[in-house]
Amino acid sequence: MTKIKTNFGCQNCGYQAPKWLGKCPDCGSWNSFVEEQLSALPERSAQAISISGQAFPPQSITVIETCEEGRLKTDVSEFDRVLGGGLVIGSVVLIGGDPGIGKSTLLLQALDKLAGKGVSVLYVSGEESLRQTKIRADRIGVSSPNLYVLAENSLEKIIEDLKKLKPKVAVIDSIQTVFTAQLQSAPGSISQVRESAGKLMLLSKSTNLSTFLIGHVTKEGAIAGPRVLEHIVDTVLYFEGDRGHPYRILRAVKNRFGSTNEIGVFEMKDGGLEEVANPSELFLAERPIDVPGSVVISSLEGSRPILVELQALVSPTSYGMPRRTAIGVDPNRVSLLVAVLEEKVGMNLAQQDIFVNVAGGFA
Ligand SMILES: Nc1ncnc2c1ncn2[C@@H]1O[C@H](COP(=O)(O)OP(=O)(O)O)[C@@H](O)[C@H]1O
Ligand SMILES: [Mg+2]
Repeated sequence: MTKIKTNFGCQNCGYQAPKWLGKCPDCGSWNSFVEEQLSALPERSAQAISISGQAFPPQSITVIETCEEGRLKTDVSEFDRVLGGGLVIGSVVLIGGDPGIGKSTLLLQALDKLAGKGVSVLYVSGEESLRQTKIRADRIGVSSPNLYVLAENSLEKIIEDLKKLKPKVAVIDSIQTVFTAQLQSAPGSISQVRESAGKLMLLSKSTNLSTFLIGHVTKEGAIAGPRVLEHIVDTVLYFEGDRGHPYRILRAVKNRFGSTNEIGVFEMKDGGLEEVANPSELFLAERPIDVPGSVVISSLEGSRPILVELQALVSPTSYGMPRRTAIGVDPNRVSLLVAVLEEKVGMNLAQQDIFVNVAGGFA
């Protein structure tokens, strides 16, 4: 009788241990170990050997062929810019963000544009049924016949369909809902996420398929299994924004094919996300004129300067310790400036609360 091998894996960083541990020795998180059953190892490691899919001998870098159209442009320019000038063929992009922020909407819209240009796209939804996806698509005006939708959780089935349909671009919404039958652990556990992302990456690199993985964000604000996925993928994007505000910011935190300084700004409307070509206008829209404590500053985001409103409020403190609150700016920098004002300018701020805020939640 074969003995079932189990292991304990940290759900935060993927650290493996033969027995349960209260604290992960690698990332330091508490109570993050979950028992996972290991699958037959030989089969897994045999599949994880090659990213080219074929056996090529080493080649001189001068003779390797690249194709001229190395990037696919969605023509949603805010999206293309954050990707570094379009989606690189064969790349794997991870998009994280809070639930309800608009990840599914963004990808459905951007890839509909791409599909409209004749590029075949497969949107795999593990969270919503085909009808739910269709209702959303109708609301935001997505209607390209080259956009295919699949409601599926099984990795094997998804890969089978990808090989059959041979789309140029695939979206997995979300990677935490995908599971492989080769592992016994629950969908969403670190080993399932790692295995699924790894297999999809191998498929992408060997067939020149560009893949978007949508990732859930944990309570702490990181993509679940962050370190594991961030190593695997080529690009990591975060889609963020304030619930109370309609606009959303897309930013890159890792990009093998572009700068990580660029941001894309969108506004969430009834009909979906709209690009904001001039974000300064949006950030300054509600600015009161000629009011003390409000100034406009220029902040360089990648290749584009953005004007934002900086607000400051100084009021007498009612406690022994004056408060120093900074939202959107570095609190250490605020402390430094306060110290300079006290020492060099002679302002007495020791009994004053100081609040500094970047208006509109732009950080
Ligand atoms: N019928 C609707 N009318 C207007 N806005 C909607 C409607 N349904 C959903 N939304 C907006 O779309 C957002 C959901 O976006 P979604 O792409 O599903 O987010 P995510 O995939 O990041 O969880 C919600 O925040 C909501 O504001
Ligand atoms: Mg979604």
